[in-house]
Parts: sequence; structure tokens; C-alpha cells
Amino acid sequence: MLRFLTAGESHGKGLVTIIDNFPAGVKINEDFINEKLRLRQSGYGRGARQKIETDKIEFLSGVRGGLTTGSPISFFIKNKDYENWRDRMDAFKSVPEESKIHTPRPGHADFAGSIKFGLDDIRNVLERSSARETASRVAVGAICQIFLKNFGIEFASAVLNIGGVGIDAAEKNNLIDLFDETNRQNIGNSELRMPYPEHEEKAKAFIDKMKTEGDTAGGLITAQAKGVPVGLGSFTQWDEKLDAHIAMSVMSIQAIKSVEIGVGVKSAYLKGSSCHDSIYYGGGGFYRKTDNAGGIEGGMSNGEIISVTCAMKPIPTLMKPYLDTVDLNTCEAKKAFLERSDVCAVPAASIVVESALAFSICYFFLKKFGGDGLAEIKRNYEGYAKK
Ligand SMILES: Cc1cc2nc3c(=O)[nH]c(=O)nc-3n(C[C@H](O)[C@H](O)[C@H](O)COP(=O)(O)O)c2cc1C
Repeated sequence: MLRFLTAGESHGKGLVTIIDNFPAGVKINEDFINEKLRLRQSGYGRGARQKIETDKIEFLSGVRGGLTTGSPISFFIKNKDYENWRDRMDAFKSVPEESKIHTPRPGHADFAGSIKFGLDDIRNVLERSSARETASRVAVGAICQIFLKNFGIEFASAVLNIGGVGIDAAEKNNLIDLFDETNRQNIGNSELRMPYPEHEEKAKAFIDKMKTEGDTAGGLITAQAKGVPVGLGSFTQWDEKLDAHIAMSVMSIQAIKSVEIGVGVKSAYLKGSSCHDSIYYGGGGFYRKTDNAGGIEGGMSNGEIISVTCAMKPIPTLMKPYLDTVDLNTCEAKKAFLERSDVCAVPAASIVVESALAFSICYFFLKKFGGDGLAEIKRNYEGYAKK
């Protein structure tokens, strides 16, 4: 069973990740991984932190001579910002009382996390709950994508709207084909990773307005997988369902508040006759004219494009003291404290969502086609495809 674990704090020395049960013989392209890491750092509306970091993957184990060995893959992503935080983040230096944080920021893990773990310094919660961890997830997703490319499976992602500016969620009844060449180029050229250039300036203006007001923005993200064979996931048990696994992978990303497969919420408003995707046969295969199901029926891939759309809430750290909170030690009313932060991280999050989707697809691909090495998996895959 493919799995991964991450460790590391936002301002600690760096992030450590272990991927277990990844097959041998996969040619690793470091540039591809580093490009995804760069994209996770970019996008209009990011904060000063991204100017300090230039994330790069450093493999510690499991890759030799450019190929995976079948042993656990471990890698490190350095936090350059650690140099500015050495004193406060050192493993053994005691933490001065005046640098401890007692006022939980609404919208963060601060409140529940510090009560749950009995901590007297909220920094212990915020350091780990931070979305810095998503750098690890992007690298894992990129490694999964590298493997899945061997089977013609491709991934793409985009930002549909920022704070509602762009494609309206209610209009999202037809899939935008993210693999279409024009859309792909537009997304690549857009600082917001938006498919339609006419939305870009308005969405940027909205982010600028939020910045001036000391406020923040969220948005709507979509990610797709193309070339996924029929039958990944299963209808036989609740926790074997592909859509359920994707929902967990995506919902566990910081600030993601909804996950839809295909037309998602919109399906509640459609009639059965206009919702379900009729099946046809032609040109040597089965096909659909629509993909409202987002490529998944009964918890299994059906061979169409798999599509997931999710809402990212506005960044919860605001640059003006709008939000009320309470000092956990004194119970005094306070304003939420300000820590350097992004105004909008939706473009960055779209890369994380794409990575989460890649992990889920890879998990079920390996479950279906098994094998410890790439050659063996290719034989299994070809045997299935020939049937
Ligand atoms: C790529 C990315 C970047 C983020 N950057 C920030 C940030 O700079 N400041 C912030 O307060 N929250 C940021 N967040 C969101 C918080 O990490 C998240 O809201 C918080 O940990 C609470 O988790 P929850 O929203 O899932 O409940 C970011 C999220 C993502 C996915």
C-alpha cells in the first residue's frame, strides 16, 4: 500500500518526507519535481516568505543512479528562513516567556491545537499546522505523476475564481478541459493560473483591494487527471472508493473547505436525464459525450477525465486586527495577532490539489496493478488493457 508521512515545521530546519511502497525502476526527473515546487511558491498575492525560499528536493534515500530502488524514498526540503528563526526554533534552547503566543488566531489550528496538546505556546501548533507542509505533498504528487506518466496518465490544475471573481461556481456545469492546448497555455501564462485571460485583471484587482484593506481572499480550484484506466478504486467497501480517497486527500489540504467530483453540488439541481452521462461505443472503445460524473461512478474510475473542484477559504491571518480572540492564559479579550502572511494563495493551492489528486490515483493504480518494479507493473497493466 502506497503511503507517505511528512514532518517538519514552518520555520524549522526543513521538511522531511518518507514515501513507502513506491515501485523500483522509475526514472526520477528532479527538474519536474522542482518545477512543481516552484509553482507552489508562486502566484499573485503571495507574501514575503516566498521571496526567501527557493524550494528544491534533496533525496536522502530510495533513489540511486536516477532510478527508484523500491526502498522507502525519503527527501528533505530546506527552509532557508530557518536562519532568521534559529533562536526561537532551536531544539534545546529555552523559549523566552515574551516570545510565547497565547492568543489563538481564528481560522487556524491555534485554539483547538493548543488546548488539545496542553501547550502554553501556540507557536508549537502554528509551526506544524502551517501550509509550509504542502511543499512535501507537492513533491510526493510530482513523484506520483512521474510514475503515472509511464502509463499515459496526465494531470492539470487551474484556478476558476478568486473570491468569486472569474468562473462562477453555479456556472460550472460543464468541465473546462484543462488539457486543451489554449487553456493549458493560458493557465501557464497566468499569474493566477486562470484559464480565461479576461478574468485575470479583475481577479488581481480584487486581490489588490484585499491587500489595501488588510484583508484576504480565497477561491475555487479545479484539478483533472486524463488517461486513467477504467476500474481504479472499488464499489465493494466504503473506504475503497476512489472519490472518497480523493476527497480525503484534497480536504486535508490547509484551507480547503469543499470537494466536488464532476459537477458536484450542481448535480442536486439537475434532473436524472440531464445529469447522468450516457454510454456510447465507437472507434474501438466506450465513450461519453458529457462528464458530469467527473470520471468516477460507483467509486471507480470510468475512463473519462477525473475532475475535482474545491473551495479554498480566505487566508485566516489578516493584516488588520479585524478578528476578535481571547488570551488563553488570562481570558482577556484581544485582537488576533498578525504574522507575515499571504493575501491569496489560491494559485499555489491549485498545485497542491493537483498533487493530492496524483497521489490518490497513484495509490489505486498500484493497488490494481501491483508489482514491486516498473517492468512488472507494465506487464500487469498491459495484460488488463488487452482484455
Ligand atoms: C498554499 C497555501 C498557503 C497558505 N498560506 C497561508 C498564509 O500565508 N497565512 C495563513 O494564515 N494561512 C495560510 N494558508 C491557510 C492555513 O494554513 C490554514 O487555513 C490553516 O492551517 C487552518 O487550516 P484549515 O483552514 O484547513 O482549517 C495557506 C494554505 C495553503 C494551501
